[in-house]
Amino acid sequence: MDEFQSLLKTIERLFHIQCTQYKEDYIRRRLASRMNVRKISSYREYQDFLVKNPEEHEALKNALTINVTKFFRDPPVFDCIRTEIIPALLRQKGRIRIWSAGCSSGEEPYSFAIMLYDLTLLRKDVDWMVIATDIDETILKKAREGIYEKPALEYVNERQLHRHFTANSDGKFEIKPHIREKVRFQHHDLMSGIPVSRDLDLISCRNVTIYFTDSQKNDLVRMFHQGLRPGGYYVMGMSEFLGREVEHLFAPFKPLQKIFVRKDTA
Ligand SMILES: C[S@@+](CC[C@H](N)C(=O)[O-])C[C@H]1O[C@@H](n2cnc3c(N)ncnc32)[C@H](O)[C@@H]1O
Repeated sequence: MDEFQSLLKTIERLFHIQCTQYKEDYIRRRLASRMNVRKISSYREYQDFLVKNPEEHEALKNALTINVTKFFRDPPVFDCIRTEIIPALLRQKGRIRIWSAGCSSGEEPYSFAIMLYDLTLLRKDVDWMVIATDIDETILKKAREGIYEKPALEYVNERQLHRHFTANSDGKFEIKPHIREKVRFQHHDLMSGIPVSRDLDLISCRNVTIYFTDSQKNDLVRMFHQGLRPGGYYVMGMSEFLGREVEHLFAPFKPLQKIFVRKDTA
């Protein structure tokens, strides 16, 4: 095994991710940026450094943008979901299921839960649930704890903060049980197939596929098509695109916000 492959194995072991499946040149470039900061010139040396210096773990994860997230990240996307999609779903049905695929530390699925909670306050008949999955066990633990620092809450308004978070004595904010209990966290690798029952109303898979190859991205889009009910919504990250081979599976709903609707194809 060469030095690069050996470093990848170490990263996989430390971060519980499978980077060998991802685009190699992207990972090489991100590693180079961290090695440059640490003035390290070989993969072997960086591997030793990583093992001996846990403080480098967060920095490398951030360089790979592995876990970066926020509540209501890209506010126009959430505005559209709150003002158009959820009201439409509530008019049509009494059961709503949303899947946050690649949920990181929980900000995205809890944002969905906050909106659904507020919009169903007068609709106690609605059965709703957010399923949240990620490949990284460590980050899922953080998600289940639901404790956040101020920067993660940049787009949370005062009313939401008051209603859905408890301020801790150390300046952090904890998500309240009525939101936490509506999100089901589950460990799952997106490359291993669909983890939830089909018939989903919305799948959000945002900022997850940057290391995936084009063919892996296309497989993922096909899987999401199968997982959604007809007319269900698929939300991508702002810098992500539907590949040519799979674009026939979805119709644009709000293309600027990267929201698509499942088409029914034979
Ligand atoms: C940058 S975060 C995105 C969080 C959130 N979706 C957002 O847009 O704010 C990417 C997440 O995808 C997860 N991830 C990467 N590869 C994955 C895979 N193969 N299966 C499931 N999750 C994966 C990472 O662990 C990380 O938590």
